[in-house]
Amino acid sequence: MKHTVVLLVLVALGALGCDEADEAATPVGTVWLDDVEQPLPQWLSDTGLFADVGTFTPAEGVLTYYPPYPLWSSGADKARLLALPPGAMITLGEDGGFVFPTGTVLVKTFTLEGIEGRRGEDVAVETRLLIKRAAGWAFAVYHWNRENTEAQLIAGDRWPERVLQLEDATGTGRTDTYTVPGELDCRACHETHRQAEPVIGVDPLNFDPDLAPAFEDAPAPVDLPAATPEEAAAMAYIVGNCVHCHHGREKGDNAAFSLMPAVLRANTVNQPTASSASGDGVRVVPGDPEGSAIYEAVVRARDPGYPGDFKPMPPVGIDRVDPDAAAVLSAWILSLEGE
Ligand code: HEC
Ligand code: HEC
Repeated sequence: MKHTVVLLVLVALGALGCDEADEAATPVGTVWLDDVEQPLPQWLSDTGLFADVGTFTPAEGVLTYYPPYPLWSSGADKARLLALPPGAMITLGEDGGFVFPTGTVLVKTFTLEGIEGRRGEDVAVETRLLIKRAAGWAFAVYHWNRENTEAQLIAGDRWPERVLQLEDATGTGRTDTYTVPGELDCRACHETHRQAEPVIGVDPLNFDPDLAPAFEDAPAPVDLPAATPEEAAAMAYIVGNCVHCHHGREKGDNAAFSLMPAVLRANTVNQPTASSASGDGVRVVPGDPEGSAIYEAVVRARDPGYPGDFKPMPPVGIDRVDPDAAAVLSAWILSLEGE
């Protein structure tokens, strides 16, 4: 009898155009979150992460957090959740990063303003999951329906990048493209992070004290070693947007070029660029943003028709220049005049 029901569900999903359906064999009375080794359910509401998925209300015991230095993703806003197995805690590892217990689930929902929604307010487009299973970390994405009442698993295993056309809900007729990364993109960013674990935004350098209940011994927030307010703002931007690749450890392309706070000045101010694939230049020329390779890579390299050799930075995950980044980097470089 049970089999008939599962088959009917799969046929219905097939009709909706969902090819790689993972069947959810969750025992009655439990939710997926009770045993994350199970295949992911088709619907976000069946994961047990939310008490009410339609209002984004997390389930009891699931923590909400906000990294002090977030990644900018073309203006999308994000809501983040952390779920640990009962009684389990996050600890500090030997490499200086956090170690997460098996069964940890991290959740990030991307919301956009005025796009593809019924409510004329921020609406969810996708929810990303990072899951620590016995065999290692798994990645997954759920895509929200237009009404924002439910989200469906894109695929439980490997899936390619998806480009969505989103309509403006406020009646301007505008459409925006929105890219949901493929699994390889998730891994490209998350597995080049400087620490053993692929979690980026729950990090001693970027610690939200709201997560203290997840630790036996919660770390104190780290002060950035900045000499001026302009430098503090630049470091904050760089910690959120650059150091998951530029961290100075042997992991990932061009990681040797570290932008970590402690070496930011030493590695940039009056320092020549070192990548064979990018342009020649000086990373930071005090007092001259336009003449600095960092500014060129972050701001000018995204101009259509940009004539130079620098790759736009960050190289993935955004589709336009972060206006705050341009202002913050420019103010910092100007403030260094005379060094
Ligand atoms: C462009 C690089 C990039 C790509 C691609 C990317 N991520 Fe992330 N992700 C980040 C960064 C940086 C953070 C931490 C900062 C933040 O939360 O804003 C993060 C945070 C997260 C978090 C919250 C936990 C954490 O690590 O901080 C989850 C869950 C997550 N990503 C899942 C995914 C999944 C699943 C994919 C693929 C569908 C993906 N990410 C693709 C860069 C990326
Ligand atoms: C997803 C990984 C990734 C992220 C995030 C990233 N970079 Fe890069 N960066 C690279 C790679 C790889 C190269 C070498 C690419 C090339 O030149 O072909 C590079 C090269 C550069 C260069 C030129 C080479 C040099 O020696 O100076 C600069 C400047 C730079 N990055 C700055 C930044 C800044 C600033 C940020 C944050 C806004 C950033 N990057 C974010 C991967 C990354």
